[in-house]
Amino acid sequence: MKLSNRLLACCDYVNYGDRVADVGADHGYLGIHLLRTGRASQVIASDIHPAPLESARRNAVKFGVADRMTFCLSDGLSALPRDFDVLVCAGMGADTMIHILSMAPWLKKGQYRLILQCQSRRPELRRWLSENGYTIRRETLAQDGKFYYPVMEVLPGAGPTLTPGQCYLSPALLESGSPLLGAYVRRVIEGMRESVAGLSRSGGEKYQEYLRILEELLEMEAKIHDNGR
Ligand SMILES: C[S@@+](CC[C@H](N)C(=O)[O-])C[C@H]1O[C@@H](n2cnc3c(N)ncnc32)[C@H](O)[C@@H]1O
Repeated sequence: MKLSNRLLACCDYVNYGDRVADVGADHGYLGIHLLRTGRASQVIASDIHPAPLESARRNAVKFGVADRMTFCLSDGLSALPRDFDVLVCAGMGADTMIHILSMAPWLKKGQYRLILQCQSRRPELRRWLSENGYTIRRETLAQDGKFYYPVMEVLPGAGPTLTPGQCYLSPALLESGSPLLGAYVRRVIEGMRESVAGLSRSGGEKYQEYLRILEELLEMEAKIHDNGR
């Protein structure tokens, strides 16, 4: 079983012996890998749809880890037992992740760690986390083909509110030392330049907002260069 670099990066944030809840497990590969490598002690694989959950169950049997994996049909964490250490949500968009986290405010009262790999609207997710009592402790990058994937380790507990630019490039990501950081920063800046160019005719509030974010991102890039000298 060959795991994508994206999912391997999520696995790297799991501590040895952790009990893992993989919400949106689909095929179940992440949990299976964690059990086969001895990294997780137990895995709850959950999904909102029965078909992916069945495929996770079949795969767990095929790879000989079904005895340490439980399967739970659930919208987010609503039907999950709470005796786990780490929540993993991977391969979903920000709206789904925010929905899942909003439904489980009890996560903030425990000792849980969250490993989040968001596929779309990442700035919105970072902003939501920062405004809703979570802190991004670590963030790194994985690459599969031509795509870059940020992976975050998030802890309950409010940290400093992120600025608009930091919702695109978090302080944790800038401190990650990832060899992919320079290329990723350039790509984020390029995306923001295109958004600004697309809005330039309107000159409205959104244009002004994106322009300010672009300036902030360019300052961050300049600091990376200065620190690299
Ligand atoms: C694209 S797959 C990602 C699978 C795997 N985590 C990965 O990263 O490769 C997203 C999965 O999340 C599930 N899902 C979507 N919304 C969900 C929710 N509210 N609660 C639990 N699972 C959900 C989908 O059914 C789907 O199987």
